[in-house]
Amino acid sequence: MPHPSLVRRHKGLLRHSLHQLLHVDAVRHVVATARYRWYVTVRRRLRTLEGSAAVSGDTVHHNVSGMGDLAVVRSLFLIRPLSVVEQLGPDADVLSIGPRTEGELLALLAHGFDRRHLRAVDLISYSPWVDLGDMHSLPYADDSFDAVVAGWVLAYSDDKQRAASEIVRVARPGATVAVGIEWNPDTNEAIEAAFGYLPGSEERLTSTAAILALFAGSVDRVLVEHDIAAPTPDEPRALVVLFTTTGRPPGGP
Ligand SMILES: C[S@@+](CC[C@H](N)C(=O)[O-])C[C@H]1O[C@@H](n2cnc3c(N)ncnc32)[C@H](O)[C@@H]1O
Repeated sequence: MPHPSLVRRHKGLLRHSLHQLLHVDAVRHVVATARYRWYVTVRRRLRTLEGSAAVSGDTVHHNVSGMGDLAVVRSLFLIRPLSVVEQLGPDADVLSIGPRTEGELLALLAHGFDRRHLRAVDLISYSPWVDLGDMHSLPYADDSFDAVVAGWVLAYSDDKQRAASEIVRVARPGATVAVGIEWNPDTNEAIEAAFGYLPGSEERLTSTAAILALFAGSVDRVLVEHDIAAPTPDEPRALVVLFTTTGRPPGGP
C-alpha cells in the first residue's frame, strides 16, 4: 500500500500534466465542448439572469448566440500576463467576470491557477464553476479575491462606473485587475446595421486611458497597458490593462 503522501504527490503531478495540455487551443476547445455538451445537452443546466437596469439591452441574447467560441483564445491576452505576476501563486483567489463558457477557466488552469481557488460569474451559466450574477452587484463579500479578470465584458454595461466599483470592492487591497476590451473602428450605426441590434452599450471605451480613468483612485501600479498604436487599424483590436489596486474605491483622489 503506497504512503498517502506519495499518492497525493502523484495525483498532483498527474493533474499538473493534464492542465499543461490545456495550453493547446484545440485541447481546450475539445475539453470545453465535451463539458458544454454534458452540462447543456444532457444535464440541461443552461440558466440566464436578466440582471439590473445597468445591463445593456440584448446582452444575454447576443452572448447566448456566441457560446460556440469555446477556446476563447483572446482571454490569453489577460491570462498570460496575469500568470507572471509575482504575488499571484497557485493558491491565489481568482474571479473571472463574464467568461461566457468554461474556456477562459480552462486557460487559467493551464496557467497554473488552482481550480479550488477559481470562481466565475456571468449572466449565463451552465457550469458548476460559474455563478449566475451581475457585475453591477457582484454576489461576493468585500476583499474576496487576489485577482479579478474582466475580459470583454465591460462593453455590456450602461453603468461602467458601478461595475468598476464592484470589481474594486471584491478585490483585496493590492490585488491585480485585468481588463480586456474590444476596440472597434466601426461606428455604433454600422455595428447595429450588421447585427440588426447594437451588442453592448452605446457608450464605448476606446483607449486604455479611458479604462484606467474608470478606476481612478483605485489604481496603484499599472503592470500592462496595451493600447492602439498609430496608424489607426481598420479592424477590431484588443485594449488590455493590468493594474494593482490601492484598495480605495474608484472616484476618490
Ligand atoms: C463577449 S463575452 C466575453 C467572454 C470571454 N471573457 C472573452 O474574453 O472572450 C461577455 C460575457 O460577459 C457576460 N456579461 C455581460 N454583462 C454581464 C453582467 N452584467 N454581469 C455578468 N456577466 C455579464 C455575458 O453574458 C458574456 O458571457
